[in-house]
Amino acid sequence: MFQDKVVVITGSTQGIGLKTAELLGKRGAKLVINSRSPQKVDKAVSFLKQFTSEVIGISGDVSDARFCDELKETTVQKFGKIDILINNAGVASSGLVSELHSAAFEKIVQINFLGSVHPTLALLPEITQQKGDIIFISSIAGILGLPGYSAYSATKRAIVSFAESLKIELSDTGVFVGINYPGFTENDVQKTILNAKGEEEILKKRDGIKATSQEKTALEIINQIEKRRFRAYSSISGKFIQLLVRFFPKLTITILSKLRKRMESMQ
Ligand SMILES: NC(=O)c1ccc[n+]([C@@H]2O[C@H](COP(=O)([O-])OP(=O)(O)OC[C@H]3O[C@@H](n4cnc5c(N)ncnc54)[C@H](OP(=O)(O)O)[C@@H]3O)[C@@H](O)[C@H]2O)c1
Repeated sequence: MFQDKVVVITGSTQGIGLKTAELLGKRGAKLVINSRSPQKVDKAVSFLKQFTSEVIGISGDVSDARFCDELKETTVQKFGKIDILINNAGVASSGLVSELHSAAFEKIVQINFLGSVHPTLALLPEITQQKGDIIFISSIAGILGLPGYSAYSATKRAIVSFAESLKIELSDTGVFVGINYPGFTENDVQKTILNAKGEEEILKKRDGIKATSQEKTALEIINQIEKRRFRAYSSISGKFIQLLVRFFPKLTITILSKLRKRMESMQ
C-alpha cells in the first residue's frame, strides 16, 4: 500500500515521527523528513538511508506558512507528487494556568495548532490530486483538558476540530482525514518541553508511567492510514477515556479532580 507513496512527516527527526518514517521507508514509501534543526534533519536522513534511498530532508518551522509552501515546492520538485501528510510536529508544555505566561500559550498555539494547519493548507491541492491521506497527531490530552496541561490540551483539541471540519468538507474528494490519539509514548532523551515561560527545556524522565513503545505508536498510525479509520488510539487508556468523556462527562471531571495532584506531578 505504501510502495512509491510520497509521505511528508513533519517533526520527524526523532521520536514518533522518526519511527513512523523508518517503518514507512521499510514499506517502500518515499520520505520527506522535517524539523527546525538542519543538523537533526541531516542525521535523520542518514539514518533512514539504511532502509531506503528515496528520502530527503527539508529543515524549517511548520508554524511558518511561507516555509510550508517551500516544503510543498521542494517535495514536488523531487518526487513529482505528494500522497500523504502526517502532521506530527508538536511540543508539550507544562504548568498550571495560574503559572503560565502568555508567551507559552502563544508559542504552543503556533507550533501545535498552526504547525498542523499551515502544512495542511500548503499540501492540500497536491494531496487532493492523489486522493491521498492527511493524518493529525493529537493526544489523549486532546480528548479533554488535563490538569497541568492546559495549553497542550487546548491545541491538541483544536487540531481535532480542524480535522473534523476538514473531513466533512473533503467527504466527496477521496481524500482520507484521520486523527491519531497517542497515549504516553517512550521519549527520546533529547525530547524538549515548553516551561511556564514558553522556554524549551529537556523533559525530565517520567517515573511511574507505563509508556507505549514508539514502534507500537508508529504502527498504529500506519495501520490507521491503511484502514482509513477516522480516529485511532495507540493505547487502551485512550479508547477508555474517549468513551468515558462521551458517556459520563460529569464523572470524568470528578475522577480527574481526584487525580489532579498526581497528574500535575507527572510533568
Ligand atoms: N510522546 C508522547 O508521549 C506523546 C503522546 C501523545 C501525543 N504525542 C504527540 O506526538 C507527536 C510527536 O511526539 P514525540 O514525543 O515524538 O515528540 P519529540 O520527540 O519532541 O519530537 C518532536 C519533533 O518535532 C520537531 N518540531 C518541533 N517543533 C517543530 C516546528 N515548529 N517545526 C518543525 N518541526 C518541529 C522536533 O524537532 P526540532 O526541535 O528540531 O524542530 C522533533 O523532530 C507530537 O505532536 C506530540 O504532541 C506524543
